[in-house]
Amino acid sequence: MLEVSNIDTFYGKIQALWGVSLKIDEAEIVALVGANGAGKTTLLNTISGLLHPVSGTVEFLDKRIDGLKSHAIVELGISHIPQGRKLFPDMSVRENLEMGAYAKRVWKHRQETLDKVYEIFPILKERQGQLARTLSGGEQQMVAMGRGLMSRPRLCIIDEPSSGLAPLLVDEIFRIIQGLRDQGIGIFLIEQNVQQTLEIADRAYVLENGRVTLAGESKKLLQEELIRKAYLGL
Ligand SMILES: Nc1ncnc2c1ncn2[C@@H]1O[C@H](COP(=O)(O)OP(=O)(O)OP(=O)(O)O)[C@@H](O)[C@H]1O
Ligand SMILES: [Mg+2]
Repeated sequence: MLEVSNIDTFYGKIQALWGVSLKIDEAEIVALVGANGAGKTTLLNTISGLLHPVSGTVEFLDKRIDGLKSHAIVELGISHIPQGRKLFPDMSVRENLEMGAYAKRVWKHRQETLDKVYEIFPILKERQGQLARTLSGGEQQMVAMGRGLMSRPRLCIIDEPSSGLAPLLVDEIFRIIQGLRDQGIGIFLIEQNVQQTLEIADRAYVLENGRVTLAGESKKLLQEELIRKAYLGL
């Protein structure tokens, strides 16, 4: 469904991604693992059109998207749930969610989609009138994910959803991500929480200093000495 081929991405003169290639299929959770500063967010931003690669290609459903603007990429069915949630603090939960439905393809179905999002996150229905800035960290993450789902994506790319959350809530977020996969949505998941992520992911890529250094089935990667030492502290 998504195919990234040999991309180089720069910030000015500084190169952040070097010849990165990867694939994501429908109904598959693919994890991206890497240390702080490895280039994970840069890679997601290059897929969602916030950055453009200097060379290489990004294809989604056999269409080249690396030159498109981010709103056009949302329209095609990729939803980016950003690191740090990026909510509109002075808007209500409901208004934040509705902002996720601005794509033409989905705007007229927004009430129906909103009901589905409230089914996945019942707490958000209870709090629909509350201002986003007054929510707890966990509730804010749920709004960010709910907003991402409002565009009815075929592929969700999610940047560190568990960051700053208590373990029980992390479990809940991971369960929800597995539920999305079971509905056929492809998931590209960045996480610092490597053990738990590899347990729910089908496949994973390791990014080091802007390069993919390892890739494969998550179950196998969990056994790799390099992963165990560098990311699991075993
Ligand atoms: N806007 C920017 N301008 C210049 N350099 C940047 C910019 N954003 C990121 N970088 C640099 O690019 C590199 C990769 O950053 P990136 O945010 O992609 O890392 P990351 O893997 O997501 O890290 P983290 O786990 O801390 O979120 C870092 O060296 C960072 O300093
Ligand atoms: Mg990041």
